[in-house]
Amino acid sequence: MSGAAQIRTLTTPQELFAAAAEEVIRATTEAVAQSGRFTIALSGGSTPRSMFNLLATNAKSTLPWDSMFFFWGDERHVPPSDPQSNYRMANEAMLSKVPVPAGNIFRIPTENPDAVAAAAAYEETLRKFFAVGPKEIPRFDLILLGMGPDGHTASLFPGTAALQEKSRLVIANWVEKMKTSRLTLTLPVLNAARCVAFLVSGSDKAPALHEVLEGTAPPDQYPAKLVSPTDGKLLWLIDRAAASELSGAR
Ligand code: 6PG
Repeated sequence: MSGAAQIRTLTTPQELFAAAAEEVIRATTEAVAQSGRFTIALSGGSTPRSMFNLLATNAKSTLPWDSMFFFWGDERHVPPSDPQSNYRMANEAMLSKVPVPAGNIFRIPTENPDAVAAAAAYEETLRKFFAVGPKEIPRFDLILLGMGPDGHTASLFPGTAALQEKSRLVIANWVEKMKTSRLTLTLPVLNAARCVAFLVSGSDKAPALHEVLEGTAPPDQYPAKLVSPTDGKLLWLIDRAAASELSGAR
């Protein structure tokens, strides 16, 4: 099923968030029909917040929340109560407002001051939940990703060690320019997903998006280029501002 990326340009950020919410609903319905459950890794940053709000408002009574299992693609090395926490954002915008069992929510244990230990603990959580052995890679139904103006995605930043990781599922990735470690799923996990959906909004993302979708720079300078599901769908949901430097401004 892998093949060319599907790129959908929406006129406004609001249309982008609505299209993203539809994609989550579509993927949930499909997965629950096929396997009785839906597994999703959430992205962080600011872009997904409005989409989370939409799901909590419009799909509160329609989505099978008790069959949905929530994980994170990456996390800042801060406690879950911290304003920087991706878990906190998703919880405030959606998870605390919908009837999802607490046992279906698997956040990255970033209250652990030892980032390497936190990454190892989350890898164990994934291996146990997906029942995969040491050499196997779990397959998410849907992984949501964003992209930074520097072309990073999840917490896979340009030129960082995590880009080379081939076997671990979760890594504490030191990001020199932020002088901090970020916890992130690795490329083997992202590329094993059934579907990866990028949400990219805003003109500040346009130069990097042009480079990622049409440019020739080495992938480790724009890590979003390294995301290409081996046997899955790759969907880019972008708004017109972010698409402004693409050829023919799709
Ligand atoms: C994070 C994210 C990161 C994010 C991009 C885009 O923890 O920051 O997971 O990869 O998706 O930085 O962030 P914005 O949506 O805030 O532009």
